[in-house]
Amino acid sequence: MNITTVTTVLFSPTGTSRKVAMAVADSLSLENRVVDATYSTPSGMCYKSDELLVVAVPVYGGKVAPLALQRLDAMRGSNTPIVLIVVYGNRAYEEALTQLNEFVHQRGFIPIAAGAFVGEHSYSTARYPIATGRPDVDDLADARAWGKNIAAKVAQSASAEAIDVASLKAPRNSFFSMLRFVHFIKKQRRLKSVAKPQVVVDADKCKLCGKCVKLCPTGAIATGDYLHTDTSRCIKCCACVKGCPAKARTLDTPYAPVLSQCFKKRKSPVTIL
Ligand SMILES: Cc1cc2nc3c(=O)[nH]c(=O)nc-3n(C[C@H](O)[C@H](O)[C@H](O)COP(=O)(O)O)c2cc1C
Repeated sequence: MNITTVTTVLFSPTGTSRKVAMAVADSLSLENRVVDATYSTPSGMCYKSDELLVVAVPVYGGKVAPLALQRLDAMRGSNTPIVLIVVYGNRAYEEALTQLNEFVHQRGFIPIAAGAFVGEHSYSTARYPIATGRPDVDDLADARAWGKNIAAKVAQSASAEAIDVASLKAPRNSFFSMLRFVHFIKKQRRLKSVAKPQVVVDADKCKLCGKCVKLCPTGAIATGDYLHTDTSRCIKCCACVKGCPAKARTLDTPYAPVLSQCFKKRKSPVTIL
């Protein structure tokens, strides 16, 4: 393949998908342009066959974050090779990679490599840690090594050939952690009165700095109205929670304790090319 440029397309409210994508893209040793779909829908996303794309998105509920697909809906390739990356919070990525694979196929891209990496869970807190600090140095070393292998494959292959994403083996959860998690989910569904997860703001801690407005991918926080989050717009990505300098924002969710308890065991990145 005669590739001249790399474009990294990402959606990453809390920055973990971005870290993995950049580690991979920087290892390809080609000029890299970043298209960030986190805050708005990018324009002009048409790519030729001599370009290489790296796309990285987070997993929400075992699928690609819906807003990511919405923002990337207009991307078009012309038999353009693409590297697929999903980043998940150490529970499971389930259908996300096959879904992303189908999404890019339909838009004229040829997936030549795919990987699932772990990022600190959006719901992780000091009290309920879930994959804290991931991707860490080991994850990023894996991402860079994989990037170098992708570069070698690109240099050696005459043309882009699609990989079989379904052949990637996902890391497994233990029987007991799954049992416990499924039991919790069933209980949640029975308790119809349970409040949905929502962001709460501690008015005593909030310094009214407005950083949350800039961090929110959906405009759910209005300038000047920092103590309020529009629940109809909020996607619970926790960008405002993690990025608040005063730690005034928290996501009130029953999922954090159970995720922290059930999915402690470290999962390693899995990749194919
Ligand atoms: C609404 C929501 C749903 C999520 N669902 C899953 C999931 O099904 N499995 C999982 O392992 N992590 C899940 N996560 C965690 C994210 O995939 C993980 O934190 C990811 O690193 C976030 O990417 P970002 O930093 O690029 O925003 C979820 C996070 C959110 C906000």
